[in-house]
Amino acid sequence: MKPDLEDQAASAEGPWEECFELAVQLALRAGQIIRKALSEEKQVSTKTSAADLVTETDHLVEDLIISEMQKRFPSHRFIAEEAAAAGAKCVLTPSPTWIIDPIDGTCNFVHRFPTVAVSIGFAVNQEVRDPRRPGPCPSGPGAPVQLEFGVIYHCTEERLYTGRRGRGAFCNGQRLQVSGETDLSKALVLTEIGPKRDPATLKLFLSNMERLLHAKAHGVRVIGSSTLALCLLASGAADAYYQFGLHCWDLAAATVIIREAGGIVMDTSGGPLDLMSCRVVAAGTREMATLIAQALQTINYGRDDEK
Ligand code: IPD
Repeated sequence: MKPDLEDQAASAEGPWEECFELAVQLALRAGQIIRKALSEEKQVSTKTSAADLVTETDHLVEDLIISEMQKRFPSHRFIAEEAAAAGAKCVLTPSPTWIIDPIDGTCNFVHRFPTVAVSIGFAVNQEVRDPRRPGPCPSGPGAPVQLEFGVIYHCTEERLYTGRRGRGAFCNGQRLQVSGETDLSKALVLTEIGPKRDPATLKLFLSNMERLLHAKAHGVRVIGSSTLALCLLASGAADAYYQFGLHCWDLAAATVIIREAGGIVMDTSGGPLDLMSCRVVAAGTREMATLIAQALQTINYGRDDEK
């Protein structure tokens, strides 16, 4: 396939350098907008449940990020939280694809709880195409997607987390390293509740937490922003993370950051990560991730690419 012009314009630093730099610039710009809006009145609406919130700032920031990226890279594709909520399909194809959560921690943002982030991931599908089977690449299990980089900006603490495939993970220039803990009875575990609040889902959610506490984990924490919880894992400040109901825009950027900090990101079945499956276990070590995966009961949230 002939590379696009903008792809050819990449600097000697690597093929996606220009994209990475733009993601950093836009995350910082979005962060300024979110910081200012945090203390102001907001127009709040609900999406899939009474706990699944969106504000005018989510839309403003998403539109800004996508329009600036489109100007620079018109052939690139986008998967973004609010566009998906409005019915856009989440499909990974061979084209370079930006995966965006304009405000991760919208519920925190609404309550002025200062744990909110902008998350921008970038995926490239580098599968060698079979010319006899044209059409989009499969985005289900085993889809040959390569996550190239992730940028997550903690808007209020002004912490910029980045990870680039093969080049390490950093927070404000300091290299990140996951914890080496393998023993669940010595672990600090992070999770998030997710938007579904029907009795059956809540029962499974609480029973999963109970299982980890029975296994004598030191603690289980919920901070209200999955991307920032995953960044804390990448920093070694926690030993594991799990969640059902996590979308690809919550996970794409953080996955690169965790992997580049030496960690493991996998499916809750213990198999390879499937970005579209809405379920994840991440940990500093494979042993820890496997122990968590074995302890969990599955909560079915469907798939992002089937909505
Ligand atoms: C949500 C937050 C929340 C998690 C949800 C996410 P949003 O993202 O990360 O902590 O429980 O699963 O979707 O809606 O604030 O961007």
